[in-house]
Amino acid sequence: MPPPTTPSAETRPQPPRIIQGGMGVAISGWQLANAVARRGELGVVSGTTLEVVMTRRLQLGDPGGHVRRALAHFPFRDAADRIVEDYFVPGGKGDGKPFKNVRSFTVEPDLRLQELTVAANFVEVFLAKEGHNGPVGINYLRKIEMPIPFAVYGALLAGVDYVIVGAGNPQDIPSLVTHLSRNESAGLSLRVQGLTSRDEDIEVILDPADLHDGDAPNVRRPQVLAIVASADLAIGLANLADPPDGFIVEAPSAGGHNAPPRGPRNTDDLGQPIYDERDHVDLEQLRSIGLPFWLAGSYGTPEGLQRALAEGAAGVQLGTAFAFSSESGLDAALKRAILAQAAEGDVQVHSNWRASPTGFPFRIVQVEGTLSDENVYEDRRRVCDLGVLRMPYKTDNGSIGYRCPAEPTRAYSDIKGGRAANTDGRLCLCNGLLASAGLAQNRAKNGYEEPALVTAGSDFSGVRELMERHPSDEFYTAADVIDYVSGSPAPIG
Ligand SMILES: Cc1cc2nc3c(=O)[nH]c(=O)nc-3n(C[C@H](O)[C@H](O)[C@H](O)COP(=O)(O)O)c2cc1C
Repeated sequence: MPPPTTPSAETRPQPPRIIQGGMGVAISGWQLANAVARRGELGVVSGTTLEVVMTRRLQLGDPGGHVRRALAHFPFRDAADRIVEDYFVPGGKGDGKPFKNVRSFTVEPDLRLQELTVAANFVEVFLAKEGHNGPVGINYLRKIEMPIPFAVYGALLAGVDYVIVGAGNPQDIPSLVTHLSRNESAGLSLRVQGLTSRDEDIEVILDPADLHDGDAPNVRRPQVLAIVASADLAIGLANLADPPDGFIVEAPSAGGHNAPPRGPRNTDDLGQPIYDERDHVDLEQLRSIGLPFWLAGSYGTPEGLQRALAEGAAGVQLGTAFAFSSESGLDAALKRAILAQAAEGDVQVHSNWRASPTGFPFRIVQVEGTLSDENVYEDRRRVCDLGVLRMPYKTDNGSIGYRCPAEPTRAYSDIKGGRAANTDGRLCLCNGLLASAGLAQNRAKNGYEEPALVTAGSDFSGVRELMERHPSDEFYTAADVIDYVSGSPAPIG
């Protein structure tokens, strides 16, 4: 196999000092990434479930015409036309009406779902890159594996500069990106519960030739950054035949999903995982790898950036500070409510080890009216209509089934053979996170709207400082975050 076509060290552009983290679902939308990339820092869009996000935006009437403008540049014209015809609702679907859903992923997604996913990732990156030459990345969760080849290919078609992967071991992602950037067929091995070593390996496969008729479009290999929480994993990845181009080292205070503690499964009174010195990443070992790395988790201050640079990092990845900026996709009412708590110095963010169906600890902001409120959680009738976190499993008759511990308990355990105890306390991240980005599903029959679920990191010190620097603005901007963290003086007046 010829070597991957990543730019050589000499031709590689200077690495960015600030990476705006890819925050799902749709919190790091194209508006935020575009605003950051315009400033020459790395703007990252979340690549999580973009096929749902894009189709919902179209059903809201595509305000501003952005999705259709981007689709007009999508190389597969028939697919773009079909998507607009299937999902665009002129003027919007209207309050209280349900969104039409897209089919959930399987190990063999049909061609329509493949092209929808490719198109949705193309659109998000296209819009993030529009109007400037700054660098744009896309973030995927390794655990959400069935859509990955299609999602990556869509981002490549739009000329994405960085593919960033966390939540699991991303060892097979650099070579997947290499193959797809040559328009070669590429597969990703899937974790299937109940599969034994005697069973055949199950892969989800994308062959770009299935999508285009005729000439393959031109694509360039972006850099691949792996999100890690240990030096051991980084060293293992660096020794691959096709290694990542750098690392983001994420501490447990970061927002979203966190790596579980490396030691025994200890929790505090609130059920939060307890981390200890075993979870501190050995930066000496990381430096010795020789690839660039960025530090994430409580680095969103000028001191944080200086601390990271002093440790030999290329810079920092920031989440929370950007999540509450005006350009983020977080619903404005939720942003206001949490910023009011921050102004009082009273934002409660709990790390919950039960909530996420993935089994990873997940940070949840305590906000009234959202799923952090026990009454709201109890009142929600379980329904699994998006299935982004469904896991494939081997059924008794040897076929592949799909289940998620946040789905209705009877379906999960009685019908699909999962352990009933595994459903305790699980939250539907799919519906909750879409709702927090203003894309809540309405259950038309009973007028119920899916409640939101908000995640954030546990360090709001940068957010508070930014609010104090910009007292007359409802929300500070992404550019304000960059100016503040880069150390520019506070504005006068
Ligand atoms: C609202 C929110 C959502 C996030 N979602 C993701 C995600 O989908 N994938 C991911 O790799 N990291 C995610 N993160 C983590 C950030 O990308 C970043 O690494 C982290 O927030 C850095 O820590 P900080 O919040 O203290 O700056 C999220 C963070 C926040 C605040």
